[in-house]
Amino acid sequence: MKILVTGASGFVGSHVVHLALKLGHEVWAAVRKTSSRQWLTDPGIRFVDFQEISEITDTFDAVIWCAGITKALKDEEFETVNYFQMRKCVEAMRQSGHLPRIFVYMSSLSARYPVSAYGRSKLHAAEWLREQKDMTVVILYPTGVYGPRDRDYLQQFRMIKSGFDFVPSLWGQQKLSFIYVWDLANIVFQAISVAEAVLDRCGACPVMEMDVSEPRTYTNAEFRHILQHEFAGRAGDKRWPVLPLRVPGWFIHLVCGISGLIAKMRHKPALLNPDKAHLLTQMDWTADNTQLRYWLGDNIPFTSLQNGVRLTTQYYLDNGWL
Ligand SMILES: NC(=O)c1ccc[n+]([C@@H]2O[C@H](COP(=O)([O-])OP(=O)(O)OC[C@H]3O[C@@H](n4cnc5c(N)ncnc54)[C@H](OP(=O)(O)O)[C@@H]3O)[C@@H](O)[C@H]2O)c1
Repeated sequence: MKILVTGASGFVGSHVVHLALKLGHEVWAAVRKTSSRQWLTDPGIRFVDFQEISEITDTFDAVIWCAGITKALKDEEFETVNYFQMRKCVEAMRQSGHLPRIFVYMSSLSARYPVSAYGRSKLHAAEWLREQKDMTVVILYPTGVYGPRDRDYLQQFRMIKSGFDFVPSLWGQQKLSFIYVWDLANIVFQAISVAEAVLDRCGACPVMEMDVSEPRTYTNAEFRHILQHEFAGRAGDKRWPVLPLRVPGWFIHLVCGISGLIAKMRHKPALLNPDKAHLLTQMDWTADNTQLRYWLGDNIPFTSLQNGVRLTTQYYLDNGWL
């Protein structure tokens, strides 16, 4: 297949590009002039300027839309990038007669729990895509994605390695879910092949939507214990002592607010920002895998959190990040 990946320079996008090449597809990576190409070194990759996607005169079999922002200085930016920019591009492709057969949109589980501006922007994009009847649409709602190259979970790995863990002290236990980045990339291509089959069989353009997560949830303590176990094992110790510090919701909002102000002064979005505080204090991040099983079957191989953490830690260590 001829495949275009937007956000190809990013964490998720670069893994999607890598797997697409491995599967033998013709891969076009849409990047910006300022994008880093450090993970896009394979000579098989063809590049296109993100601004010029709509001017490409070929039709792609599939477009995998991984471009997006997860942190911003202002809430409006989420809507502009995650929704309007994608919509503008699809409309331009339609106008030039080059809509892809299949359009995969990397949404987020945050759209299922739209407590943040980020989640709402992803929701609006999904709502608009659902209405498009002239191409097959696959909308994936991944939960927190972790793995090699990710710098967001890296902060938690670092904190736990240094012996601390900040845990939101909320009413009850927070439920967390995870997906290893390579599993997510696999699911993208499994979804594309199912979409292809449906399209060939009925000629109709299906809309496939699915939450994407390893099929279980974890408490903060369970996640911490997996990391502790990993660090202890590597150090040849039985234990890796970590002090969990319980912090109330208002404190998380305060810290995120201050971090957001500093980010504005530096003109650079920060991982902790007022919008993120809504995500950090959300109680339940359970993904409903019913649709995933319905479309892709019961035998999707998932990397367990233990194994994923091992591979990720190894990557962080190899690259001097941890
Ligand atoms: N990571 C997660 O845990 C997670 C979970 C659920 C959903 N997602 C979704 O998955 C997608 C990829 O996330 P990620 O973690 O890979 O993020 P990332 O590493 O920050 O990558 C984002 C990508 O989008 C591109 N991009 C950002 N703003 C853009 C703009 N205005 N125009 C064109 N391209 C732009 C970036 O290009 P530059 O390199 O030029 O900046 C980069 O290639 C996002 O849509 C995110 O919402 C991520």
